[in-house]
Amino acid sequence: MTTATASPPVPLESDPGSKKKRLKLGHDPNLAINGGAGTTWMPFPPPWARVAQAVALSGDVLGMIPRIAKGKTTIGDGSKVIAKFEKAFKELTGSEYALAMNSGTATLHSAFFAVGVGPGDEVLAPAYTWHASATPALQCNATPVFCDIDPKTLTIDPDDIERRINQRTKAICVVHVWGNPAEMDRICQIARRHKLAVVEDCSHAHGAVYKGKAVGTWGDVGCFSLNNKKAVDAGEGGIAVTDDGRLFDRMLVLGHFGRIQRGQALNTFDFGDMSLGLKYRPHQCAMQLAVASLKRLAKLNRRSQRAWDILCEELRDVPGIRAPETLPGATRGGFQAFVLAYEGETMGGPPRDAFVNAVKKEGIPLTADRYSELNYTYGMLHKAPLFRVDRRTISGACSDITRDGSAVQADVLPNAERLSRQLVSLPRLDTATDGYVRACGRGIRKVLNGVLGS
Ligand SMILES: Cc1ncc(COP(=O)(O)O)c(C=O)c1O
Repeated sequence: MTTATASPPVPLESDPGSKKKRLKLGHDPNLAINGGAGTTWMPFPPPWARVAQAVALSGDVLGMIPRIAKGKTTIGDGSKVIAKFEKAFKELTGSEYALAMNSGTATLHSAFFAVGVGPGDEVLAPAYTWHASATPALQCNATPVFCDIDPKTLTIDPDDIERRINQRTKAICVVHVWGNPAEMDRICQIARRHKLAVVEDCSHAHGAVYKGKAVGTWGDVGCFSLNNKKAVDAGEGGIAVTDDGRLFDRMLVLGHFGRIQRGQALNTFDFGDMSLGLKYRPHQCAMQLAVASLKRLAKLNRRSQRAWDILCEELRDVPGIRAPETLPGATRGGFQAFVLAYEGETMGGPPRDAFVNAVKKEGIPLTADRYSELNYTYGMLHKAPLFRVDRRTISGACSDITRDGSAVQADVLPNAERLSRQLVSLPRLDTATDGYVRACGRGIRKVLNGVLGS
């Protein structure tokens, strides 16, 4: 979208003798940060999840109260709500099996376990994601290896996947970050060629589709968080989908004491009712919220897509800002946040934080993107201390006795590193009016004009 045209802005505050009003950023006195009027005073519309829950509380969830009053609160008490949610999710994705759990992290651990990730193995994952896409590999005594991302989509770069495959590689974790489907056909081809498992982290992408197939059904297992900011919201929860009954049984036996005997797909295990030391069963109240929330997913996705399209239209060909692309044949879903790349610094504009601050002053809820600078210190995941610790010093499942030393990944990931200084984020504008979304675009344009314009 952008080519450099402007000369670097002169910070006017460096002119102490001048009677002119001192400007805090760029040349433009009309920017709110320089004392001008803001772009909008419209209040930020409440995110959909909270609206959805308020509605859910008035109907589906109240229906649980009689059961709670009778003390019937776990799957062991014969509740049907978990089965109801799993059935609805199978219908959403078209998958053969679905297993609800108490977090998205639990689904990822279960998926890595199910596909056979074990001691000494490596799991490829994108550097740009929430840490839980990779940390459960540690619980399988394996090592996450981070790949660079495609700057166009912000999802894992298939070329970098190929570069990092070696004899230890066991699985690829693909993340459809911010609901934007990754290039699944190509990634699955690579995985087949190298006999690797594919786990899809769809935590941002409920209802997203790639080339006619729901995300989560391209790889061996698809994992969805149902945590409270997600498009399908159980408060806390997760659900894994697969077409492979053997993988379903392995996930079940890892953490679902109480439903193994009658719940297996292929009766792979004869363990009575005992699971392998974890308890990943979801709470029924959470599942009731999830049922209610799932009914509203199609509407949330329509509203989010409309808001995203308007925002992209407002920012099309605006120098200094770029919206990630959706691949041909892909439909975004879940959305989670509206992330953009601020490229103004490379054109002589201010650093990202100063830009974000100026946009905020316009009344627009823009922030620095939280995954691009974890804890606002480390950059993306390959820089995080958690993945650089000497794992011989950690006891339990995470320790790594197969390697002499830490899992330090010293490589430079050029796209991840550049984007970790550029990405900015708006909330998923799922309840916003068209006017509010346009105001967000206008505010961003106004600041870019003010800091890059002639
Ligand atoms: C991309 C991604 N993966 C995994 C998770 C983990 O999900 P949960 O918080 O439900 O354990 C999250 C949660 O924010 C996420 O955003």
